[in-house]
Amino acid sequence: MNKSQIPAAQKEVLSLLLDDHKKAKKLFKEFEAEKDDAAKEKIAQEVCTELTVHAAIEEEIFYPFLRDQKPELFGDLLNEALVEHASAKDLIAQIQAASMEDELYEAKVTVLGEYIAHHVTEEEDELFPKVISQKIDLREIAAAMAERKEEMLQSALPA
Ligand SMILES: [Fe+2]
Ligand SMILES: [Fe+2]
Repeated sequence: MNKSQIPAAQKEVLSLLLDDHKKAKKLFKEFEAEKDDAAKEKIAQEVCTELTVHAAIEEEIFYPFLRDQKPELFGDLLNEALVEHASAKDLIAQIQAASMEDELYEAKVTVLGEYIAHHVTEEEDELFPKVISQKIDLREIAAAMAERKEEMLQSALPA
């Protein structure tokens, strides 16, 4: 999805989400290319944090807002998204509790990357275009989403 073609009413929120998707994909690629175990773990932990925060702002603010606006149009899509988030969170929790010592560690990160690629494609090819075609004005939730993201990232940083 091309950010420059997003109308003003959806631009800020969808750009934030698209940037998050891009960052996650980049981290999964870096994980795959990295040879050093400690560096791999660091990348995996970062992607887990980023995805946890991203899923939270969608679940707490973005999805409920869409459901509120047009329950009959967004309900099914959002329910599927929540189920996909739940599977991803499950794997994230396993990865966060493990290390490269775990012989399935790399496989877990790879499968998480595949789940996320699938989920992101559904959001970008189905959900976001629907939000735009239905002219859902996202401007009123833009600040709340950016703030919540910042707040969660701050508290996720090691003290
Ligand atoms: Fe999502
Ligand atoms: Fe997303």
